[in-house]
Amino acid sequence: MFQNWEELQQACMRCTKCGLCETRTNVVFGMGNPQARVLFIGEGPGQSEDEQGKPFVGRSGQLLDKMLAAVDLDRNSNIYIANIVKCRPPKNRDPLPEEQEMCIDWLRNQVTLIRPKIIVCLGRIAGMKIIKPDLKIMREHGVFFEKNGVLMMATLHPAALLRNPNNKPAAFEDFLKLRDKIEELGLLEESGAVRA
Ligand code: URA
Ligand code: SF4
Repeated sequence: MFQNWEELQQACMRCTKCGLCETRTNVVFGMGNPQARVLFIGEGPGQSEDEQGKPFVGRSGQLLDKMLAAVDLDRNSNIYIANIVKCRPPKNRDPLPEEQEMCIDWLRNQVTLIRPKIIVCLGRIAGMKIIKPDLKIMREHGVFFEKNGVLMMATLHPAALLRNPNNKPAAFEDFLKLRDKIEELGLLEESGAVRA
């Protein structure tokens, strides 16, 4: 466990713990404000993310940024965004359970240092890994669960919303619930949803 963010990032960037290291272009450690009180967790890098070394920079990322902006959240100021696996699975297949298991220590260390008040899981894979293995994304998106003093919810993955735009209003409801929770907890007053 690293106590220092820079050291954690540097070690992660050199990781060869699972087979995904062989096909990646870049490790996608995450981006945003490590002092943020709200952490978003996706599944793993896609092609654009692998090329640029940043999370959610492709088409689904553009949609995510719009939804974030609608509730006053912004990856450049008051949230942090990371993924379950830091290297792109070939052809965007789901990360294998053993790849998730190897990689999740990096995310655990990120969570320990960020100490978020709220975690939002983007999609089924992240929700099942972070909230509970039997999470039913269509039934339980937008529901807050409490685990170790942290509130967690899953919402629909932006890539799934691009495939099925009919679900956009449902996902937007989740973001409104998130905004209400942030207000209720007074997180925005805490110097812009970041840790004092
Ligand atoms: N999808 C994800 O789950 N994460 C990314 O970083 C990009 C797309
Ligand atoms: Fe390491 Fe995670 Fe990349 Fe696998 S996916 S090589 S565990 S950083």
